[in-house]
Amino acid sequence: MEETARITINGQTHEFPVITGTENEKAIDISTLRNKTSYITLDSGFGNTAACTSAVTFLDGEQGILRYRGIPIEQLAERSTFIETSYLLITGELPTRKQLEKFAASFTKHASLPKEMLNFFAGYPAAGHPMGLLSAMVCSLAGYYPELLKTEPSGEEIELMAAQLLSKVRTISAYTHRKSVNKPLIPPRDDLKYIPNFLHMMFSTPKKEYKIEQAVVDALQTLLILHADHEQNCSTSTVRLVGSSWANLYASVSAGVCALWGPLHGGANQEVVFMLEEIQKEKGNIQKFIDKAKDPDSNYRLMGFGHRVYKNYDPRAKIIKQRAHELLNTLGIQDPLLDIAVRLEEAVLKDDYFKERKLYPNVDFYSGLIYKAIGIPAVMFPVMFAIGRMPGWIAHWKEMKADPKTKIGRPRQIYVGQKQRDYVPIQQRKGQ
Ligand code: CMC
Repeated sequence: MEETARITINGQTHEFPVITGTENEKAIDISTLRNKTSYITLDSGFGNTAACTSAVTFLDGEQGILRYRGIPIEQLAERSTFIETSYLLITGELPTRKQLEKFAASFTKHASLPKEMLNFFAGYPAAGHPMGLLSAMVCSLAGYYPELLKTEPSGEEIELMAAQLLSKVRTISAYTHRKSVNKPLIPPRDDLKYIPNFLHMMFSTPKKEYKIEQAVVDALQTLLILHADHEQNCSTSTVRLVGSSWANLYASVSAGVCALWGPLHGGANQEVVFMLEEIQKEKGNIQKFIDKAKDPDSNYRLMGFGHRVYKNYDPRAKIIKQRAHELLNTLGIQDPLLDIAVRLEEAVLKDDYFKERKLYPNVDFYSGLIYKAIGIPAVMFPVMFAIGRMPGWIAHWKEMKADPKTKIGRPRQIYVGQKQRDYVPIQQRKGQ
């Protein structure tokens, strides 16, 4: 028998279908609620509202499960590459060798930026946050590649757009760093793969090539894979919402960059390192920060803890914590912030306030320590998150475009402002 849900309003009962996902997730389809009852639902922060069906990523926050296109994140982090994972997310399937070669070749072909575009970097203040520049540059790509602005792109066209965008975002990101440290822009090299080429553009100088360490490449590979998608998070929902107005891919993902910038989302990785440095300045007094986060009169939060969906250890954080230890060991770096992070995590996991609220370390807690060990400055951490999340945004934009059920995103509201009142001329207003 088909499962249904009933809502009774003022004695009248209305029936709504129940939708069941592949992993037995249940949702009440209330799309006809307003027509049937004239009522709407209120759900601040959309904690209980699915805005779409999606086949990209499965996440079970209670169990700590994350899978891209059905494949567990642990397997991808261990065995895949960022380019292969991007292909998987965007097309739905792991590529054959030939498909992967073709996809990767497009990255090499599209790595450079148009010459005129480089003027943008010259005009941006060095002290300006790199995320502002990244978002502006990604949106501006629409002006340089109008031939790719298709409303209904074919599968092959999307693959090309995706490879081009992912490749250029890497170059733009490296250049936002060069700009912020006032160093000349270094052109990409055709002979380097995705991550080595990024490191080259970040750290080589016109006179000296950056020495690429395999351990650094491996650590970045893992981080980018772990950030590649996370279903309907704030930035991905932004991408879908913007794209639902038929805005082009560049405009949509550029909006995603802006949403990611916030410290409650992708900006948290940068804040974690600032917080650990603060704790270090306070002679490692962890308890002081825990107490501040628990104080009901303070808005302070421990950055890198808590998640809307995970009520268990974030599976990404588990892998990143291990990689952080491995990388620092391999590079022979002793970062006192790592010790503070480990002690903070231990203290938090024992504390009743955090236990009751199921607040665990999230993806941002240890990632900054890896970036820091590589020499990437803190303001660039959200940019690193954006490079990683790009394939997820593209996959969702593509899925949203292909779904015949997609409508322009347009939430409702409950108006709580003034009732109708008359305009009062300025001479007659109170307080003259
Ligand atoms: N430190 C202290 N208390 C916290 C924290 C924290 N990091 N996170 C949540 N809480 C408390 C919060 O005060 C609330 O307490 P109470 O029930 O007494 O009011 C309770 O836990 C539930 O919090 P919430 O704000 O209702 O939860 P949310 O699902 O709306 O917010 C969050 C999720 C990630 C925004 C939040 O946990 C947070 O601000 N964390 C710190 C920022 C952070 O690390 N962000 C990165 C998230 S992971 C990467 C990504 O996907 O973006």
